[in-house]
Order: sequence, then C-alpha cells, then structure tokens
Amino acid sequence: MAQIINYDLYPIDDLYTDTARQWISTIKTQLDKDGSCLFPHFVIPEALDTMTDQAKSIAHLAYPGPTEVSPYFFNYKLGEGQDLPASHPLKRKGKRKLAQVATDLIPDDFLLSQLFHSPEMRQLLSAIIDQPVYRNEDPYQSLNISVMDPGGCQQWHFDSGTMVTTLLLQEPEAGGVFEYSPGIRSDDDENFGAVEAILDGDLSSVKRNNLKAGTLSLFRGHYSLHRVTEVEGNQQRLQAILGYTTRLGHIGNKESSILHYGPRVAETESRHPRYPD
Ligand SMILES: [Fe+2]
Repeated sequence: MAQIINYDLYPIDDLYTDTARQWISTIKTQLDKDGSCLFPHFVIPEALDTMTDQAKSIAHLAYPGPTEVSPYFFNYKLGEGQDLPASHPLKRKGKRKLAQVATDLIPDDFLLSQLFHSPEMRQLLSAIIDQPVYRNEDPYQSLNISVMDPGGCQQWHFDSGTMVTTLLLQEPEAGGVFEYSPGIRSDDDENFGAVEAILDGDLSSVKRNNLKAGTLSLFRGHYSLHRVTEVEGNQQRLQAILGYTTRLGHIGNKESSILHYGPRVAETESRHPRYPD
C-alpha cells in the first residue's frame, strides 16, 4: 500500500502511535460535527494517474440506471398507503444522470481494487468508528466507479449505508460539486419539512465540498441529504465508491443490482446465481 496511500500525510501504516491516535480523534470530532471528513491527496500522484487511466479504460462499461429518482430510493416502503400531497418529499423525484461500472467489471489487479481489498482501509475505518469493518461482499455493488459525463448530476438523496467511502479519481473542469445538509434526519425524525425546503431550493443549511482528484471522503450519507451538481466543461467526473460495512458477509439485493447495473445482471444470475433466493 506504500505505493498507493500517501503515508507521509496519513499515518495509516501504524494506527497505534500517539500521532495516529490524535489524528483519528480529530477525524471522529469532524465526523460528529459535520457528518463528513475529507482526506486530500490520500493517493500518491503516480498511483492516482494509474488508477484514473485504468478507470477510464473501463468507463464505457458503465450502466446508466434510473434517471428520475426519489430522495428515498432505498426505502421503498416509506410513505406506503399514505395520502400525501404532491409537494411531499416522498412524492418527489429528481434528475439522476450518471452511470456506474459494477464490481465484477473492475479487474482485481487494478490499483483501485487493491486499495479496496487492503486491510489498511478496513483498519482505518474501524479505528474511526470503533467497530469491526468488513468489505461489502455484493458481487456488483461493493466497489463501483461512478461516471458522470458533462451534464451529469445526481439528485438529492439519502444513502442506505451509514458510512459511505468515496475516492475522487478525476474532477470535472467545473460543476460536479458535492452538496449536503449534515444530519438533516435521524433514526427518530425524518424531518420532512426541512427536506422539502431544500428540494424547493432553500440551500441555507447546505454545505459544499468542491473535491479534488485523489481526495478520500467519508460521509454519513444515511442522515445527510446530498447531491452532486451538474458537471460542466468537457471532462468527466470519475469517482470510486468503496463499499465497507459493519456487517460481516453483507450483500445487497438482486433487484437493486438489475436496476443499477442493467439486464445483464439478471442474465448472469439466471446462469450463475450469487444472491440467495
Ligand atoms: Fe449518496
């Protein structure tokens, strides 16, 4: 990992030194306060160049998935059977224009795969959240490359996982800004009024991360409404999504994989099923 992770900036090779403990403590404080923590220059420049070239070489394999999506697209049952006005967040949909390369299309010898599979990443996340951390084992969802062409964007939404780990591989010339409202909802309160205000354009509670290539980001996307603004200029925005979880052996569901990675998933699964019935 010394060829990939910037150990000069980030003491991940030994998390038990005083320096590392202090650093982890700062990260925890930042995450509690903001729901987000950034690690600029996490990947050393030479490795980032290779990683990005490798991602570009398979970007054409990305599948576009749904284009009009609810902020709650992972919580299909929310609001079921309720008579809600059209303005209610559960009734709203936003424009999603991006494509994703699924895990099974990313070669194991790519630097990104090596980073994802490294014990160092799990040890780092585990130290931050004080729980054992495992890789998501889903055959399609665990490691993805998100490809946004010019005009690409992602709608306001919440994530299903409690912690999302991303690595920006290539920033766009302009736009493609990550915007979020930290901790807008909790396990006890969906806070639909505040969510509706943001969907209506009130950005007063919204923060912005204009990420640079090579930045690792930890984000509590389950509680923070977030989006990516429209990509401008001629350069794609390329981002890796590294699926880690506190649940050993966790996989997603087949329907979601078919929706996000295309009909080939259904075809593959009919021949070589990897999801339980
Ligand atoms: Fe998200």
